[in-house]
Formats: sequence, structure tokens, C-alpha cells
Amino acid sequence: EDAKKGGFAHFMLKEIFEQPQAFYETIRVGVDDAVRKVIRSAEEITLVACGTSYHTALIFKYLAEPLCNIPIRVELGSEFKYYPPPLRGLVIAVTQSGETADTMAALKMAKAHNCPTFAITNVQGSTVTRIADTTLMMRAGPEISVAATKSYIAQLAALMQIVNIRCDGAFDDMLAHAHLAIDEVLLQDMADAVALCRTAEHVFFVGRGPFYPVSLEGALKMKEISYIHAEGYAAGELKHGPFALLTPETPVVAVCPPGATYPVMVSNIKEMKARRAPIIALGVKGDSELEEIVDIFIPIPDTHPMVQVLTTSVVLQLLSYHTACALQCDIDKPRNLAKSVTVE
Ligand code: G6P
Repeated sequence: EDAKKGGFAHFMLKEIFEQPQAFYETIRVGVDDAVRKVIRSAEEITLVACGTSYHTALIFKYLAEPLCNIPIRVELGSEFKYYPPPLRGLVIAVTQSGETADTMAALKMAKAHNCPTFAITNVQGSTVTRIADTTLMMRAGPEISVAATKSYIAQLAALMQIVNIRCDGAFDDMLAHAHLAIDEVLLQDMADAVALCRTAEHVFFVGRGPFYPVSLEGALKMKEISYIHAEGYAAGELKHGPFALLTPETPVVAVCPPGATYPVMVSNIKEMKARRAPIIALGVKGDSELEEIVDIFIPIPDTHPMVQVLTTSVVLQLLSYHTACALQCDIDKPRNLAKSVTVE
């Protein structure tokens, strides 16, 4: 098994480091004409997914809706079957394994209602590929660690390709180079941030827009592998309840790249600081305004916001990974969890 880890301490770390390639390969292989046709003609899209895949679907909604000008709905597989949304338009199942029972049930139901169905998956020949009318393969390669990392990044590559198709190739260049930015953050020093998190009982992850689901995923990773209670929140929502939990022992990880929501994020951070919570902020390199007001500043490359979704996600994976290492957790096989959940 050690040989398969290729010199890395855990499969998770190996797979984190394989992310530039997983993203690049998914973009490089591209999509066939059948996929293009289905995506171009969609007038409404419903995505259905579970776990980490649900988070990539939410990120897609934030990225795609303003650019593609079509309504996009995101549903949990486990809810869909019993509380179905309006069954119309293209239904996309996002599933790394292609086997998750709840996602399969939802897709079958959409099919039974004559919706065109589409799968995004990492496993050729998996159940989802047999149910869906059309499949877009992601190219992450096999993922061993239970916590999804490179499959998450490859899913984002596939979903960003869909945005790109709808935008007539406007993001061709950006997508072809995005892996380089992911590469840049892999060796980020996380020691100070880990020192804050490893002793915490609760950690909040906050962001706005696409960085809200990035925060949800950051919190999920922290829970899964370090067993620290973590919650992802839309930054503006913290004052509607969770503020009551903020203490000097409750770190908040704030994802705060430039953009329309930057000023309001900064004021949210100041509000949290006023409640004495230590702040770990992810911001672009050279953002001295942010660096000055937070406790720990983690720089990310100054790139297109879509690429920042990738780099901030990877930094949050590293934070969970190194925190779990410090706590000596069973990183590749967290307790009570399975890689693929084939029961309802
Ligand atoms: C399990 C895994 C998660 C994964 C989820 C959905 O819970 O532990 O990492 O996100 O299933 O899996 P899927 O294969 O449908 O993406």
C-alpha cells in the first residue's frame, strides 16, 4: 500500500497533489458533439447530487446562472425522490462514483418523467452512465481516500466546461491554464492555521457567492477527516444565529477574494473580530487591507474568480488534511464513512 501512495503519507495528500492533472486532463479531453448539443439546447437545468458532489453542483449554479441566463436548480439526491422539484428541463446527476443510490433514484425518476438526463461521473461504465441519456466523463483517475478531493476538482472542470460551452468558448484560455494556479497553492504553509484549528471544538467556514459552497465543502472536509465540528455558512448569515457561538476559541475561516462582495466580506470579518473570534482569511496575494485585520492570512494567486474557486478549495482541503494529521486521525478511512453509498 505504501508503494501506491507514491511517497505521500496518505492517499488523500497524494490525491490533493494530483489535482492540477485531474483538472487539466478533464479539460484537455474535452467534450463530444452529443454533449455540446444537449448543453446548448438546455433551457432549464436541475442538478442532483449528494455530499461533496452537491457542493460542486451549487458552485455551478453560482457560476453559470448569471453567465448562461437560464434557471438552474440544485437538489439533494436524498430529497429529490420524496419531494421532487418540477420535473422539466435537463436533469444532470453529478456523481463521482456513478453509484450513489439516492442520486440514481432521482435520475431514474427524472427519466420516467421524460426529462432529458445527463451524467457527470468519474467511472466509465458505472450505473449512472447506463441510466443517463448522455455522459460527460471527468478524468480524475481512481480516488482511494474516502474524502473526495481530486474528484471534486475534476467535477468542477466538467461543470466549468458546461459554462464554457454555453458562453461560446469564452473561457477556453482560462480553463486551459487553471491547473497552473492550483499547482501554486499545493505547498502553502498551513502551520499557523492548523495550530488554531487543532484545539478548536467548532470551526466556521464563511464565504459569499460561489465561495459559500466552497465554504460548505471546506467544513465538510474538516468534519470528515479531523472530526472537528465545522459549519459552512453564507457570510452574511452568521449574524442570524451563529454569532452567539463566537468565542476566542472558535476560529472562522473566511474566503475573501476580490470582487463585488469583497467590501461586505471585510465588514463581516470586522463584525466577527469584534466578537473575538480568530480569523483565518483566504485572500489574494498582496491584499494588505485584509491581511491587517485578520489573525492569519493565506494568500491565493490573483486570478479569474472561477480559478479562485479552485485554489481556495484546495487550500481548505490542505487545512483539513494538516489539521487531521496533527490530531493523528485515520485520514484515508474516517470512521463511519464509505467512499460510495449504495443504500438509501
Ligand atoms: C460518499 C462519499 C463522499 C461523496 C458522496 C457522493 O458520502 O464519502 O465523498 O461526496 O458519497 O458520492 P458520489 O460518488 O455520488 O459523488
